[in-house]
Amino acid sequence: MPQPVLDAVIKHLKLEAEVGAYEAEARSHDAVEHVYDAIAALIGCSRDEVAVVENATRAWDMAFYSLPLGPGDRILTAEAEYASNYIAYLQVARRTGARVEVVPDDEHGQISIDALRNAIDDKVKLISITHVPTNGGLVNPAAEVGRVARDAGILYLLDACQSVGQLPIDIDEIGCDMLSATGRKYLRGPRGTGFLFVRKSVIGRLEPVLLDLHAADWVSRDDYVIRPDARRFENWEGNYAGKIGLGVAIDYALDWGIENTWPRISGLASGLREGLQAIPSVTVRDIGAHQCGIVSFTADGKEPEDIRRALSGEKINVWTSPLRFTRLDMSRRELRSVVRASVHYYNSEQEVDRFCAVLAKILK
Ligand SMILES: Cc1ncc(COP(=O)(O)O)c(C=O)c1O
Repeated sequence: MPQPVLDAVIKHLKLEAEVGAYEAEARSHDAVEHVYDAIAALIGCSRDEVAVVENATRAWDMAFYSLPLGPGDRILTAEAEYASNYIAYLQVARRTGARVEVVPDDEHGQISIDALRNAIDDKVKLISITHVPTNGGLVNPAAEVGRVARDAGILYLLDACQSVGQLPIDIDEIGCDMLSATGRKYLRGPRGTGFLFVRKSVIGRLEPVLLDLHAADWVSRDDYVIRPDARRFENWEGNYAGKIGLGVAIDYALDWGIENTWPRISGLASGLREGLQAIPSVTVRDIGAHQCGIVSFTADGKEPEDIRRALSGEKINVWTSPLRFTRLDMSRRELRSVVRASVHYYNSEQEVDRFCAVLAKILK
């Protein structure tokens, strides 16, 4: 988290301790509400199309589980789909008789737009893909998918958890109806924050799978009215310090300008891939015609988890992504796990060089 984000979160927590939680909320009302404007500015939507929830997973769930799906309805997704999303497809398919189908990749390893177009018929009720998968640098062609969805009049849900804050996102350019994102990744916001965008024209068609007294109004003994805006996908209690922090994080990102930070991220990642390719035992595992700041690799004869541990001992943080997080893509490529190194704009060329030098030493 950048310092202003940390300061804002701590300031609000202190205020809660000093004056009381409701009282602090009232005093910080504008800062809390600002997060909706910040998200709207970030992705090009309006504030009443935004729900702020506890993470990207719940944001995605609130959209997906609220869709009216029935027997024979088809859900189209892609090879790089994230485990939590795919588990949800399977659960809903079992419950409703809907079918989940995976559109194959093209020769670059991204979702094939031709195959997607060919798969469309009037039984397809949802196109749902991950923009940047959890296990590597692939950037799926979200806007081209959006054109297919729009031409066919099919709802389009985009998991943008790993792309928001990293690359420019404009919901009109992408053409998605729903988009989920997290605060804790490229936005550099606090953990336990996420948001959902739902296009105004679609909000009324989605009955939230969960309702409470925030999402709906209990208007008479036997009746309730669901909120007209995207906050119908929220619930009442929340992390107000986190919300404020997320707003500050987005302001911070927008001050630098995603259009400025994205080329820097992309350049650092290319340098990292080049450095990794120069280490004989290393194989870079990123696929796709366009790649981003997430760099994945394996090394001959060394478990990704052992590499992670050794790098951690050198004060270098990476993560590993096992098969079960992106089962379709990983099993197709016969990968059990990969090391995932993510660069951000604040990393330096020297850090990339040191990373490669330390890794080469570990692998000797
Ligand atoms: C592609 C993708 N979607 C969703 C998520 C879940 O995000 P969150 O932890 O905010 O729920 C992740 C987390 O790694 C992810 O990689």
